[in-house]
Amino acid sequence: MKRLLLTLFAVGVVSLSPTSGGGGELTKALAPGAAKIPADEPTLRRGKYLVESVLSCGNCHSPRTPDNSVIPGRELSGGRTYDTPAFYVTPGNLTSDPETGLGAWTAEDVKQALTRGVRPNGLPLAPMMRTAFFKPLTEEDLEAWRRRILS
Ligand code: HEC
Repeated sequence: MKRLLLTLFAVGVVSLSPTSGGGGELTKALAPGAAKIPADEPTLRRGKYLVESVLSCGNCHSPRTPDNSVIPGRELSGGRTYDTPAFYVTPGNLTSDPETGLGAWTAEDVKQALTRGVRPNGLPLAPMMRTAFFKPLTEEDLEAWRRRILS
């Protein structure tokens, strides 16, 4: 690992300049073609990565066809209803729509929903929304997630 880092430094892939301003810059430095990427692009990219892969929000929040594939172009716009003895819930629209989606949610609203399982009006979310799993998200991850949603 040490040798790999030394090699990366040697070829100039990793640059921790005094202006880099923290860990996020490392991601930027490692991204191919990083020099041409606008300042906030790595954050948006991280948001896409988190939402679309690691956190799998679309598993529950995307509408699906009868054969269970996500309906193209409608990703994250709301999932199917789950009618169980414990709760009756529908994973909502996570797009930037200000009325049916999260367009009007503040960064704090998003944080509280994801990490504490509470809606902006104080009502708790059903445990199916895996708050315990999302709790370790950092402020940067939450901001990246928000940028992806609002993009
Ligand atoms: C295992 C299924 C599941 C996954 C995965 C999931 N959610 Fe949810 N989510 C739900 C359900 C079900 C609700 C509705 C809960 C309720 O109404 O009490 C919900 C509710 C929410 C809400 C409140 C607004 C609404 O839709 O009613 C937000 C915000 C939210 N989820 C964000 C996310 C984000 C962001 C991710 C990915 C990081 C995610 N969810 C992943 C099931 C899921």
